[in-house]
Amino acid sequence: MTGAATADVTGAATGTTVSAEQVVEMSGISKAFSGIVVLKNVDFSLVKGEVHALAGENGAGKSTLMKILQGVYTADSGEIRVDGIPVKITDTFAARAAGIGMVFQEFSLISTLTVAQNVFLTAEPIERGFLISDRVARERTAAIFADMGVEVDPAAPLANLSTAYWQLTEIAKALAQNAKVLIMDEPTASLAKHEAEALFELIGRLKARGISIIYISHRMDEIYRIADRITVLRDGAHVLTSALSSITPAEIVEGIVGRKIDGQLEWRERAASAGRVPVLEATGLTSGARVRDVSFTLCEGEIIGLAGLMGSGRTELVRALFGIDALSSGSVKIGGKPVTIRSTKQAMARGLALIPEDRRSQGLVLEHSVRDNLMLPLLDRTTSGGFLNAQKIVSLAQTLISKFSIKVSNPTMAVGKLSGGNQQKVVIAKWLGTEPKVLMMDEPTAGVDIGTKSEILDMVRAIADDGKGVLFISSELPELLAVSDRILVLRNGEVVKNMVRSEIPNEEYLQLAIQGA
Ligand SMILES: Nc1ncnc2c1ncn2[C@@H]1O[C@H](COP(=O)(O)OP(=O)(O)OP(=O)(O)O)[C@@H](O)[C@H]1O
Ligand SMILES: [Mg+2]
Repeated sequence: MTGAATADVTGAATGTTVSAEQVVEMSGISKAFSGIVVLKNVDFSLVKGEVHALAGENGAGKSTLMKILQGVYTADSGEIRVDGIPVKITDTFAARAAGIGMVFQEFSLISTLTVAQNVFLTAEPIERGFLISDRVARERTAAIFADMGVEVDPAAPLANLSTAYWQLTEIAKALAQNAKVLIMDEPTASLAKHEAEALFELIGRLKARGISIIYISHRMDEIYRIADRITVLRDGAHVLTSALSSITPAEIVEGIVGRKIDGQLEWRERAASAGRVPVLEATGLTSGARVRDVSFTLCEGEIIGLAGLMGSGRTELVRALFGIDALSSGSVKIGGKPVTIRSTKQAMARGLALIPEDRRSQGLVLEHSVRDNLMLPLLDRTTSGGFLNAQKIVSLAQTLISKFSIKVSNPTMAVGKLSGGNQQKVVIAKWLGTEPKVLMMDEPTAGVDIGTKSEILDMVRAIADDGKGVLFISSELPELLAVSDRILVLRNGEVVKNMVRSEIPNEEYLQLAIQGA
């Protein structure tokens, strides 16, 4: 499967002359953490002006390989060449000096600073002996954003902005460092469709300027859209490198998971979805400016998909239901009984669970163990009544870890050390452990690999089959269409469409409904 494009750039490995166009070459890279090998003798090369996709299952080693190139970790063995010259990338300063910039999968920004301050946090802070002024930083940041084709106020504190803007700020920050190699680790995971489009156009412009981009993604469509070549890792080993023009999606998926799978996300009729017993009834819900007069009924066994553009009010709706944001009017019934929910604790006590959008700030305590994170909502629930002994905790955590195939060598490992996708599985697993009546999920498959994604959708179906109601937010229309029995389309905080799944003929139809065409 190794295409012709590879042969002329892996010169060093094959003993032929190294092409002058080669910017980065990593060869024989190995890495272990506390004796556990996560990268085995990996080769990777990058050509000037190419977009090189890096793919693989959650925990395959993609981020670790890139963190080695970025100087966050040092390899146990192997060699890195930049522009044909062997370099020792011992820390992030060395990487930056070698022209390597990175957009981290998990953000490295400071929420109390402004956008501009974050962009210039590490890039040439000294100018004529002084720290660069806020004004200069704002002007330069504005110019970078203008070039990116997105509108962001450089003076806004990051804390006031949504996840999408954090991502854009990360990208702007790398660009501000004049990197010749840009590493993007799942950059679109938190971007709306039009923002992703703006990013792809930006990538095209960067390529034309001779910048090389390493692009980690779980999304096949965008890999084909923007990448020239792809490298696949599996269990820390190199599986294949190929030009995208000479490999099929099925071959890539086979490389990623190590076997053939029918990756199609298909909708299935479920027996339980016929149940008509309401579990959650919302009437005239209004919260802030983003949720306006929303009414719907969720029945036992039903999965309702919430569709809409970023900012349409989907996240705000589930936050209000879960007691994070206050309702200014409207009423909620659970199991036919009127309830008031003024805190997340009350929401949990009434049988609600929310898997939040931003796992890093809301879903996990990163420095705590995987086991403690899994048990957190259970412990909260049992403070008033039940009691869990230590042995029960150990076995419950183990059950969740194997049920969700969470890749962790030891349940006492800090959750922050798990790969991004595995952190996401911990968030999902911990809330399902509470056995809620109504489960609300906000972009639960963001950053999750292809195999795991369909596993998660199967879990969602099983939860509904078990008589629970599910509210499912996703910006990925194929999965929304695959799992929902009904879809509510939100726009400017209002429900503009409430459609039974069978009324939606195809993805384009739903896309148009979302955009309001
Ligand atoms: N600092 C660390 N300490 C211990 N183990 C680690 C550390 N960093 C990563 N690992 C482990 O290395 C393996 C590879 O992780 P990595 O983050 O590179 O995966 P990934 O391919 O980026 O996955 P994802 O698609 O989920 O982001 C995982 O099993 C992870 O738990
Ligand atoms: Mg990763």
